[in-house]
This record gives sequence, structure tokens and C-alpha cells, in this order.
Amino acid sequence: MIKGLEERGASYFVETLGNVHAAMHYMEADREEAELSYLHLYFANMMKKALKPETVVVGSGFSPFRGKKNTLLCIEPEKSQLLAMGGRVIEDGMMDMIGLGRQSFADPYTPKKLAEGREDEIKYCVQCMNCEELMIRQQPVGCVLYNKFYTDKFRETRAKFGKLSALHT
Ligand SMILES: Cc1cc2nc3c(=O)[nH]c(=O)nc-3n(C[C@H](O)[C@H](O)[C@H](O)COP(=O)(O)O)c2cc1C
Ligand code: SF4
Repeated sequence: MIKGLEERGASYFVETLGNVHAAMHYMEADREEAELSYLHLYFANMMKKALKPETVVVGSGFSPFRGKKNTLLCIEPEKSQLLAMGGRVIEDGMMDMIGLGRQSFADPYTPKKLAEGREDEIKYCVQCMNCEELMIRQQPVGCVLYNKFYTDKFRETRAKFGKLSALHT
């Protein structure tokens, strides 16, 4: 399908997986299954291989790579943290850019702080998935952990609708 879209003029693609109806954790790995983020790298790489070299592929699923305290096993945190892994996948030609989804809710200044060597000041997303609960409840969406507007919105939403029984629409 992406080749067909490319033939019809698409010049860039943003990789994603799963869907909000049935496979949320493939779309966004939560903290218990952070390793699902590796699937995003794999599929972005597949897209890159299938498309023309000049067609841009933006990867996703980088929030669980976090800082040096991520829960990913097998690779040392220094090699798997957001900046190191993001740089590596671009250098290896697996994708052209990395996209920040939940991390840009958690701290929109992440790229600036990384560029200025202020990593210790970054507020990292913890994959609590509460922003998704806001989306499923059709509320304004933002980081429930670090942004008071959305913390309050989340409390109101829970009081009004109760806790979700399952994380899907
Ligand atoms: C609030 C929210 C809404 C999203 N909506 C969509 C969507 O409509 N379609 C889609 O393909 N992915 C959607 N995603 C998934 C992202 O494209 C991305 O794959 C995912 O957030 C993993 O990247 P991250 O770790 O940077 O958050 C959404 C993510 C969030 C947080
Ligand atoms: S609410 Fe904030 S910390 Fe929780 S998953 Fe969303 S962006 Fe990350």
C-alpha cells in the first residue's frame, strides 16, 4: 500500500502500529511491555527498504526509551535511551527522522534540552497511558502527569465516567 501511495505522490510516511479499537499496546507500548517499541523500529525499517531512498520515513514508539532509567532489557540504558537509540536508527538508515508522540506531551522542550546538553532537566513520559484514556473519553488530550490542566481534566473525566474497564475505544 505504501508503494502505491508513493506512486501517487506521497513524499513522507509516519510509521505507526495497532489501533485504538483492539491493539493499543502495539500502537503505544505501556511500561509493562516497553519492548513492544522495538516493533516500531522494525516496521519503520521495512518501510524504508520498500520505498524510494528520497521518500522520508518518520519512526515512532520512542517514548519508552526515555532517559537512562528505561525498563528495556538486553541493551544497556546508555545505548537504548532516546537520544542514543534515535541517533543510531537514523545513522543505520532504518528511518530518516524520529517522531516524538507521548514524549512531546510530557515535555515539548525535549529536543531543545537534548541539543543543549540539559538531559537531566527532561520530564520523561512514564507510559501511564492516562493521555489515551482522555482520548478514548473524547476529552482534550495532553500529559496527565506533568501538565496540571490535563491532571484536572483527567480527575473530572474519571469522576464523570468512571475508570475504563479496558484501554480501547
Ligand atoms: C493521544 C494519541 C493519539 C494517537 N492517535 C493515533 C491515530 O489516530 N492513528 C495512529 O496511527 N496512531 C495514533 N497514535 C499513535 C502514535 O502514532 C505513535 O505510534 C505512538 O504514540 C507511539 O509513539 P510514542 O512512543 O512517541 O508515543 C496516537 C498516540 C497518542 C498518544
Ligand atoms: S499522560 Fe503523560 S506520562 Fe502518561 S503516557 Fe501520556 S504523556 Fe506519558
